[in-house]
Amino acid sequence: MVKICGIGAGYVGGPTMAVIALKCPSIEVAVVDISHSRISAWNSEKLPIYEPGLEEVVKQCRGKNLLFSTDVEKHIFEADIIFVSVNTPTKSSGLGAGKAADLTYWESAARMVADMSKSDKIIVEKSTVPVRTAEAIEKILTHNSSKGVKFQILSNPEFLSEGTAIQDLINPDRVLIGGREGPEGHEAVLKLKGIYDHWVPEDKIITTNLWSAELSKLADNAFLAQRISSINAMSALCEVTGAEISQLSDALSKNTKIGPKFLNASVGFGGSCFQKDILNLVYICESNGLIEVANYWKQVIKVNDYQKSRFVNRVVSSMFNTVSGKKIAVLGFAFKKDTSDTRKTPAIDVCKGLLGDNACLSIYDPRVSKDQIHKDLSMDSEVKHVSIVSDAYEATKDAHGICILTEWDEFKTLDYQRVFENMQKPAFVFDGRNILNVDKLTKIGFIVYSIGRPLHQWMNNIHQP
Ligand code: UDX
Ligand code: ADP
Repeated sequence: MVKICGIGAGYVGGPTMAVIALKCPSIEVAVVDISHSRISAWNSEKLPIYEPGLEEVVKQCRGKNLLFSTDVEKHIFEADIIFVSVNTPTKSSGLGAGKAADLTYWESAARMVADMSKSDKIIVEKSTVPVRTAEAIEKILTHNSSKGVKFQILSNPEFLSEGTAIQDLINPDRVLIGGREGPEGHEAVLKLKGIYDHWVPEDKIITTNLWSAELSKLADNAFLAQRISSINAMSALCEVTGAEISQLSDALSKNTKIGPKFLNASVGFGGSCFQKDILNLVYICESNGLIEVANYWKQVIKVNDYQKSRFVNRVVSSMFNTVSGKKIAVLGFAFKKDTSDTRKTPAIDVCKGLLGDNACLSIYDPRVSKDQIHKDLSMDSEVKHVSIVSDAYEATKDAHGICILTEWDEFKTLDYQRVFENMQKPAFVFDGRNILNVDKLTKIGFIVYSIGRPLHQWMNNIHQP
């Protein structure tokens, strides 16, 4: 029986390993993590992350061929294949600070693998890493392991999107497996392919060399993020010309060379991958002397930052140039709907921007915990201006304005007549996700701002700084 160990029980490792267990009943899957609280949550009724469909999969396999444990050593020792899905945040200090990936967790996982392995193993890079990380990992493994133990490193980047992770895993567009050239590398690739063969059609499994697989993941996210920054840049132009962003998106989407996805203008992209991976790419380009290429990708992030600050400026300038002491309802905090994840959510920058102008925020998100929001906004002096509430009606009561920052379905169907009646007047709605019906809200009496749409007369007369 093949044994798999997944190191890292986070947003990538947890769902990925659970789906492998579901689809391969003959394989024993152990998911290990150094965090005791994470593992005990995986073993409880309330999983540590919210992801539609995840609970069903875990319930079906847990205790059969899927287990969650903090005994990292034991499961590394027993495994034939080890998937590494530990976090790789952007370095916050030292060489490459603010850009390069921090591989501390990766390195410590690799050292543990080297220490514990007494038989040959395949190591699979799941978390996104800079190009040529595999080489560094190989060095750590070969220089630290017992004599005779052989490792093969594969890159098998994860393309799942949070919120649709289970569907993405069960029905992937493609599975990418990169390995070393030569017979041993080839054999390792085939072994991993054999796992995916349980449920993924052969033509969707692409095998490449190691570096292509690593770079494909960074390129993939950079291209997606670039589309959002492109459409968001257009949204700013729409607002000053009277063009309408949804008509523009619609027209572009019909061009089969462009296609319909990733054309929704928004308050900005977030999530754990896009910014980090682009920064990674920028760092790699700079390290290779490709300054123009680095600057090109940097601009994608700059436009994203611009989109967030443009939104804050719009709120403040519309409300007589001051939000000081005014209650603003923030609906949605997660970086997109159907996830509890707040990493790099645009809501953090927007909230901090509004707090910087002394607004009083009342925040509601259906899935993000109070503690998480407090942690994300950890600005001690201003935290007293933040209250986190448990429903949208409470958040909007007596508020001067509403900011929609996540496209949760429930915000589309609120009783806006009731919301309006309980707000201060003039009552503003700033729709950062373009999910609301502007005409309907305007009829009720709201002054509505919607990204990239013709401006309400109120805002038209205001000069944006
Ligand atoms: C992304 C990639 O899609 C996935 O392939 C990769 O493996 C991990 O990174 P994820 O971060 O889960 O997935 O979310 P995604 O759906 O890509 O959205 C990222 C951000 O872009 C979100 O903040 C989302 O709200 C925003 N977005 C997305 C837009 O603003 N407009 C769009 O049209 C699409
Ligand atoms: P991602 O979105 O990439 O899955 P997360 O932060 O959600 O990132 O998950 C990464 C997980 O990896 C965390 O739960 C963290 O505790 C775990 N981790 C980090 N380093 C190690 C290690 N050396 N051994 C085991 N688990 C680790």
